[in-house]
Amino acid sequence: MKLVRLIANLGYGSRREVQAMFREGRITDAAGEVLYADDVVAHECVRVDGEPLDPAPGLVVMLNKPLGATCSTRDAGRIVYDLLPSRWRARDPMLSTVGRLDRDTSGLLLLTDNGALLHRIISPRQHVPKVYQAELAEDLRGDEAALFASGTLMLDSETTPLAPAMLEVLGPRCARLTVTEGRYHQVRRMFAATGNRVERLHRSRVGALDLGDLEPGAWRVLDDGEVARVFAEGSSVA
Ligand code: URA
Repeated sequence: MKLVRLIANLGYGSRREVQAMFREGRITDAAGEVLYADDVVAHECVRVDGEPLDPAPGLVVMLNKPLGATCSTRDAGRIVYDLLPSRWRARDPMLSTVGRLDRDTSGLLLLTDNGALLHRIISPRQHVPKVYQAELAEDLRGDEAALFASGTLMLDSETTPLAPAMLEVLGPRCARLTVTEGRYHQVRRMFAATGNRVERLHRSRVGALDLGDLEPGAWRVLDDGEVARVFAEGSSVA
């Protein structure tokens, strides 16, 4: 791919703006030699104002989503894209969230520009477990684990029952829930079906990938090994 297109697709500007950057000599190789718009040069060899290019397409980002941010691309309030470099919003292919977390849910959110990977992670057929910690308004009744594991729980206005999910009781009003689907407001609706209400929800794990020491609001680019952990054997709902 010609450099002008490669750089414009990374969100550095329109083709016209990137052409101007070439004319100004801002785009060079690692040795500082000026490059030209029609050159075809390996991504890692290009510098803009002396800085390496943003990550190449195929990007996978893990964000520790803070409470209050939405997964929408357009919202009056704070959106998760505000937490990432602003240039990334103009990337083509675009960076999409892998499923969604509600505004009032915190924790592990993946974003990628790899559509096939995105669909593989969210597909219920892949059985990628997502692990949530829920703080509840009411004491657990005691029968929730059996109900969630049954594979028969039907949420309001749905036509198929939920796949089995695993509940671990952490306290009278605190539980860890592992689900393999991503239905709309799924965790909140599951507890609502038991007469309870989720007061705080945090996702700690997707597959065998966890947040590690990533602070709320922080993000990092994942390497191939970390992406593979999403599909790691043995991370499923038993
Ligand atoms: N289930 C929910 O109810 N909300 C989320 O954000 C994720 C799963």
